[in-house]
Amino acid sequence: MQRAGRVVVLAAGLGTRMKSARPKVLAPLCGRPMLGWVLDTGAGLQAEQLDLVIGKEGAELQAVAERELSARGASAPRLRCVLQEPRHGTGHALQTCLPEVGKGSAPVVVLYGDMPLLRAQSLQRLVAHWYERCSGGSRAGIALLTARARDPFGLGRVIRAAGGGVRAIVEQRDASPEQRAIDEVNLGVYAFDPRFLAEALPRLTNDNAQREYYLTDLIASAVAAGRTVEAVVLDDEREALGVNTLRQLAQVRRELQDRILDEHLSAGVYIEDPDSTYIDHGVTIGAGTRILPCTVIRAGVAIGRDCEVGPFTQLRTGTVLEDGAEVGNFTECKQARVGAHAKAKHLAYLGDVAIGARVNIGAGTIVANYDGKLKHKSTIGERAFIGSGTVLIAPVEVGAGALTGGGAVVTRNTVIAPGEAWVGVPARKLAKRSAESKAPAPTPAAPAPASSRSSAASRSSAASRSSKGTPSKHKTSSSRAPRARSKQK
Ligand code: UD1
Ligand code: CA
Repeated sequence: MQRAGRVVVLAAGLGTRMKSARPKVLAPLCGRPMLGWVLDTGAGLQAEQLDLVIGKEGAELQAVAERELSARGASAPRLRCVLQEPRHGTGHALQTCLPEVGKGSAPVVVLYGDMPLLRAQSLQRLVAHWYERCSGGSRAGIALLTARARDPFGLGRVIRAAGGGVRAIVEQRDASPEQRAIDEVNLGVYAFDPRFLAEALPRLTNDNAQREYYLTDLIASAVAAGRTVEAVVLDDEREALGVNTLRQLAQVRRELQDRILDEHLSAGVYIEDPDSTYIDHGVTIGAGTRILPCTVIRAGVAIGRDCEVGPFTQLRTGTVLEDGAEVGNFTECKQARVGAHAKAKHLAYLGDVAIGARVNIGAGTIVANYDGKLKHKSTIGERAFIGSGTVLIAPVEVGAGALTGGGAVVTRNTVIAPGEAWVGVPARKLAKRSAESKAPAPTPAAPAPASSRSSAASRSSAASRSSKGTPSKHKTSSSRAPRARSKQK
């Protein structure tokens, strides 16, 4: 691959058409800020240096850029953030990167931070074209990306001479009616000869409708200076879709979503209805997994092989489904590890919880992870059986093979030993586990004084609904008791 000397990403613009106070390039697109997509594409050129032009509210942009690039490890370019203040247009933005962008002989590739659909391959094609056609000595000039747009409104139009050569770019606002009829548009992606930049950038003027210094004026000045200017026309006009408005943000998101879904489909993930499936960037899914309709899977989720997710399910950041796990029908997971072949198939909230292999989470189970101030972690051991409607008030520990009865409310800091059965409100240990119980044999229950019976438990209708337990059997134990074992953190 031919390398760029330097990549410059312009991201200082105000994004006024978005009507938002936040920098436009931080808008989220499939779980990643817009800028992340653009930097990733730019970093694909393996340039040593990446300049990011930011405005005065750009501290967050810098943090995002550092994070996104560091994810690329050793192959990441060095990042230099350049402040453009005040802002006088795209040409002025590149001027702020002088004199560095005017040095060396490898091309300077410039792209805009609001074009997240641009593909790394298109950039590579551009750079290869620059080396092949636009790099020769004193005639070294510019290669730029263009596309034929069905709706060119708002974009710079490419003006060509009778012989077909590129002469200039005219912005929508400055274009004549004839020029507005042109459907070839400027993407805002260029490979420049650095010496040409050193010469021509300082000479830009702001003689136009917006009184801005247009980077696009460099095309006409290169032609006038006898430099080579060539367009690489993209086949896929969707790459030309920039984000100036919230409507365009939604369109671009849809495109990126389709690309992500496509990758999973080709990797053997069955997605029944791509139109109602939302999968963020940075999600891993094993082959053979089935994703059913109306499902949202957020960035950072990892799903093993042969799992089933959905319908109507949200998997939030930090969730891991091990092979064969199944979650669906109005279940939400957040920072949950769901063990191999464990099931939570109906109406559950599983937050900050590690669930062992082959656990069954009954319908309506809630892990109440938040006490109003802090989030707490819980664990459920393998093959445990959590009865329908159980509320586990975190932090709790449910041992392997343990059982909770339908409607049990397991209060915070409870530790349910392996094999025990707990029922009622608040949940108490059942003295004896019935032989027909689904889960493995319980450990013997500790004797408990009758006086310690919980009146709440004996009144609990939930407890009396539980399989074999009657309220009279509910006991709390003194020494092995489930009560607060440790203080809440
Ligand atoms: C620009 C191009 C247009 C092209 C279109 C492609 C110019 C003059 N016009 O128009 O030909 O068809 O992109 O989407 O270049 N920025 C700065 N500093 C500034 C102004 C802008 O850093 O002072 C950054 C913005 O953050 C943005 C990018 O430059 O990422 C483009 O600016 P924008 O105002 O969106 O340009 P367009 O009107 O879309
Ligand atoms: Ca734009």
